[in-house]
Amino acid sequence: MATKITVNSNGSLKVDGDFTIVDKDGNEYGLGGRTVVSICRCGQSQKLPFCDGSHKGQFVHDAKAYDLPPKKDA
Ligand code: FES
Repeated sequence: MATKITVNSNGSLKVDGDFTIVDKDGNEYGLGGRTVVSICRCGQSQKLPFCDGSHKGQFVHDAKAYDLPPKKDA
């Protein structure tokens, strides 16, 4: 299954599908068998990089998809 990332309004990024999450050194986070996780994007979680619900009432972003401009050649 392809990985799907859902940008939730006022909250996390939901990651679903075939993925691994690693730290800056390439070490993998153990997900305890989870195939769906929520990644914090508000910066307030005590369990970064995962969402712990701390965003509730503290983070506002109305998630609406849009197109990025064309990638520039390097
Ligand atoms: S997005 Fe949920 S705690 Fe940051």
